[in-house]
This record gives sequence, C-alpha cells and structure tokens, in this order.
Amino acid sequence: MQEVNVGIVGLGNVGSSTLAILSENGDQIALKLGYRLKVVAVCSRSVHSKHIPAGLGDVFKTTDWREVVAHPDVQIVAELVGGTSVAAQIVDAAIANHKSVVTANKELMAACGPEIWDRAIQAGINLAMEASVCGGIPIHAVLREGISGDRVQALYGILNGTCNYILTEIEKTGADMETMIASAQRLGYAEADPSADVDGYDARSKLVLLAALAFGEKITASDIFVEGIRRITPLDFQYAKALKHTIRLICGGRKTPHGLILFVRPALIPTSTILAHVQGPYNAVWVKGMFGEDTFYYGWGAGHPTGVAVVSDLMRVAREIRGGSPERVSPFAHERLGENKPVSVKLQKRAYYLRFRVEDRPGIIAKLAGILASKNIGLEAVLQEPCDTKNDLPFVITTEQTSEQSIGEAIEEMSRLDFMREAPLALPMETAL
Ligand code: HSE
Repeated sequence: MQEVNVGIVGLGNVGSSTLAILSENGDQIALKLGYRLKVVAVCSRSVHSKHIPAGLGDVFKTTDWREVVAHPDVQIVAELVGGTSVAAQIVDAAIANHKSVVTANKELMAACGPEIWDRAIQAGINLAMEASVCGGIPIHAVLREGISGDRVQALYGILNGTCNYILTEIEKTGADMETMIASAQRLGYAEADPSADVDGYDARSKLVLLAALAFGEKITASDIFVEGIRRITPLDFQYAKALKHTIRLICGGRKTPHGLILFVRPALIPTSTILAHVQGPYNAVWVKGMFGEDTFYYGWGAGHPTGVAVVSDLMRVAREIRGGSPERVSPFAHERLGENKPVSVKLQKRAYYLRFRVEDRPGIIAKLAGILASKNIGLEAVLQEPCDTKNDLPFVITTEQTSEQSIGEAIEEMSRLDFMREAPLALPMETAL
C-alpha cells in the first residue's frame, strides 16, 4: 500500500530520536500500520551536519522550514522545534497548507492549544501532541481515551524530571541545592539557565495541558500557583523523614467545593504513597476518578521516550488520514464541559510544614505560636534537630489543617520578626494521594 509521507522540522534530541526510531523500527511500524511511514523532508538550522540515518533512504534536506511545509509530498509535519515563535508559524503554515501536524511543543500547546485545535478542525487536518507532556508516558491518550469515561476528581503529577532528580539526590546524598543543580546541568538534565525547570515553569506548562484534558476546563498559566524548589535544603528532608514524609515538586489539580485548585510547588507527601517512590529523572501521574478510583502512570519524561511518543503520534495521524476522520473533536473540551472553574490556591485547606531559620533567643516559639493562634491556626508539632549554630538555628513547626490564606498572612507577619534570618518556608502536607 502507498506510504504516508512525513516532514520533520527540528533535529535536536527529540527530532534525532524520531529519525532513529523511524529508521530502525521502520519495518515493524509498516507491519503494524499496513503501510510505511516515509520521511521525505527534514529541516534544521544545521541540517547538513546532522546524522540522517541511511535506512530512511532519500530525504530532502533544508534549513528553511517553509520548504518542508510546502513540500508537495509531505502529508504530516512534525514540529519538533519548541518555543512559541517559529513553532507557532510552522504549525499555522502547516494548517493553512492542509497538512496534518504532530507536535512535541508543551509551551505552544499550553499557550494556544484550544485555538490551534479549532483551526485544525476547520481545515480538516489531524493534530496530535502526545510528546508535549511526559514524553515516555502516553498520558494524553489515557485522559482522552483510556479513562475518558470517568470524571477526574484529582490529578497529581511529578512532571519535571530535572527537579525530581535534584530532590531525590538531595534526599539520598545530603548534598545541597547548588551542588545538585550543577550535577543536573552536567548530566544534561538542566539547561545552563536552570530556571525553567527549578522555578517550576516547565512543569506549569505541562499541568496547563493535563488539567485541561483531565478536567475539561480552559486552563491558562495564570490559573496555576507556582513555586520552585530552590529553597529546599537537605535538612528539610531530615525533618520530612521524621514526619514520615518526603518532598517532591508536585503538579496538582483538585476539585474542591470552591472550584478547581491548581498548583506546582514543593510539597510534603507521605512516604507510604506511590509518588514518594518516584526517584531520579522519572515522571509520574496519579489520577483519581469518581468511578474508576486510582490509576497511576510512570515513565521517562524526556530523551528517546519522547521520540517514541512522536513516532506513535505519526502513526496515529497516519491512521486518521487513511481512515478519514470526518467528525474531528477537540480534546480541549471547555466550551462543551466547563464545569470546574479554577480558583485561587488561597482557598485550599491543608496542614502545613513551616521551617524557620532564627537567631536563637528565649521566647521565639511563644511568639510564633501567638501569631498562629491569632490566625486561628492550630499547632501540631515542633521539631528541632540538634544544632550548634545558635545564630542560625533551624527548626520546624507543623500545623493542623488551615487555609493557604491564613498561612500566608501568618508567614508575612512572622517574616517581620527581628530574630528571623529569612522568611519562613511553608510547604503544604498533601494527603489526597
Ligand atoms: N526539562 C524537562 C524535565 C524535560 O526536566 O522534565 C522536557 O520536558
């Protein structure tokens, strides 16, 4: 049977993996589909120094993405460039040229996925974006197909492998944050500027997409509370352990009576939970359904597995092209569902872990307890590991369940106390796992 022809734009890690898999696994893919996926054109700024596997046969090479989009034989354009400027032009031009699109671009789809999808439907082309979130975990397919008959109540994920590597290494070795960020950079997990990962922005784009699919709501980045991992110290892991918890960068969405609460933040999670066992640069997603209860998904978030996601999406779109998809429906369903409006994280109720660094003197606990009492916050426990540095003394207070609003007000007041060396660190203790 006649092959389906593909053009690849972007030959970084994901693009190169995609080519390698399409070459090495090409025969199997053809047997699964019933026809071959043929790469007819590739584009990269440095295409002439890129390795194009010989198994792909004759491939048109260019440094101008327009030549891939306009190539008369290309039926599916794989946008593997990333970012939101050139990538948006590539996707727009492909749709305008009635070419189907596969994208691995979380930022673009988080920023304007619903609009892109609508344009694709109007143009009668097919679109797939599995590789945009948790490369190795087919989580889009899970939410759109596998458990789509359920009503999602909560979704908690570890969506940034770099942060998970950093946190779990601090936990294991006792090394500090700076050392582990440098280690993540050496291993190629973190960029030279690690901010997108360690300050939570990469994870936020991923949660925008997953929450939109899981809850059927329009989600924008500003709906999600974000706090990065930079303030977490080895000592926090010691205290968390004493509380039978650990610390992970949790990307959460939860239905509450007020609305949908969304956050990306370091949180204490019980060591008994499955997410607490996710180590190193792995990703994981836990979903709680109203009818199907708990399901859990685990895998790599980057590298070769993302190439698998792109190739599988190319196969999906090739099947849709061959099968014809007259009734295309956007996975961004907020206009049809839209029953879970995002609300401020300040409304959430949790127990909190408060870690202080103070210049030691009598009356500190009494002062802090007074502030907590004035906000109607109950104190659960006080923990203090032995410490010689009286001018920089760390200790921890855990609270009973209270609102994020009250904790925020208490922290603000505590930060002004003259014995406080830095603003107290407040982490929620997540139980809904
Ligand atoms: N930088 C991301 C992470 C991988 O560390 O998970 C790509 O999304």
